Amino acid sequence: MSGNPDDVEPAVGALRYERRQMLPKTTMCNDKLHQFLQALPKCEHHVHIEGTISPELFFRLASKNGITLPSDDPAFDSPAALHARYQNFTSLDDFLHYYFIGFSALINASDFEALTYDYLALAYSQNVYHAEIFFDPQAHISRNVPYHTIIAGMNAAKARAAVELPKLSVEFIPCLLRHLPVPSAHELLEELLASGHFFDGTLVGFGMSSTELGKHPSLYKSVYDAAKAAGVGNFTAHYGEEGPSDYVKDALSLLNVSRIDHGRRSAEDVDLIAQLAESATMLTLCPLSNVVLKGVDRMQDIPIREFLDANVRFSINSDDPAYFGGYIQENYCAIQEAFGLAVEDWEKIARGAIAGSWCSLLRKEQLLSEVDSVLQEWN
Ligand code: ADE
Ligand code: ZN
Repeated sequence: MSGNPDDVEPAVGALRYERRQMLPKTTMCNDKLHQFLQALPKCEHHVHIEGTISPELFFRLASKNGITLPSDDPAFDSPAALHARYQNFTSLDDFLHYYFIGFSALINASDFEALTYDYLALAYSQNVYHAEIFFDPQAHISRNVPYHTIIAGMNAAKARAAVELPKLSVEFIPCLLRHLPVPSAHELLEELLASGHFFDGTLVGFGMSSTELGKHPSLYKSVYDAAKAAGVGNFTAHYGEEGPSDYVKDALSLLNVSRIDHGRRSAEDVDLIAQLAESATMLTLCPLSNVVLKGVDRMQDIPIREFLDANVRFSINSDDPAYFGGYIQENYCAIQEAFGLAVEDWEKIARGAIAGSWCSLLRKEQLLSEVDSVLQEWN
């Protein structure tokens, strides 16, 4: 298996067409605010780059890289069969099984570059102007794809975006994986710290993802403490997706997090809602993900109105768009169709998302002025 960081080729742009092909027919919502929602400058804080591999791309990369597909699961008979399987996830863990198989096709820096650039170009077409992208180094390093191969590819995509997508800022956030033993997370942290990437602008923060039930925040306190002691500045963690609101509360008190990924179930605890509002902790909500992974029965069950009314800051994100049938615009549209929000509600969401971003004050001012220009047209 090669993992040469110099192996960065021009990204393969044709993937965008494949991705658009898989979007649901509901891509355009019928709401009168649709044009406004399309034009609204967006921040994406919760997208896993490995969650942007479409079945078509997975098959293509697997073939290019000589990867054998699982033979004991008919879902891997064809891209169409894999798409069909993605319509029937029963839980987070059921999804994660397929998500991590998807990693096996990613080998070279050029694979990570193509994947990342293509996501950025698609997100930009939906007016994402600031993207903070998660990636899962442990699940690559354990397959002998080195950290520096991943980051070389992602950095090459970021450099290309700086030229070709001029209004877009891009940041990267590694996530520790909760299905792996805690010592493996410490090893990852050591490697990341040794790279110097938390301190030279390559990595903007540190996160945690994967299975949730049974993975209480106290298990990871030593990792977060070590990162904090070493000078890492920004922390987040996936909680309150399947797990109870207590996990969110304990993550806030134990892990130094300034945001929570998902956090949907925080709404079950009125004291926690007040605490989130008071501390301006941002929740990075992922509506289509919650419906597809059966966290909620219907979009209307996501506590959007409760969070807005209680002044809990949140952003709306795509999580794993290739698996859940939509990128950020489709998530905005799905929320609008379910809740019929007003322009003022979206203004609050857009301003909160900028305030909660991990970027400079200057960049926040630039993003705010982009939002203001669009609001002026609509008010
Ligand atoms: N990794 C990728 N998507 C995830 C999700 N929705 N929850 C937890 N870990 C993930
Ligand atoms: Zn996620």
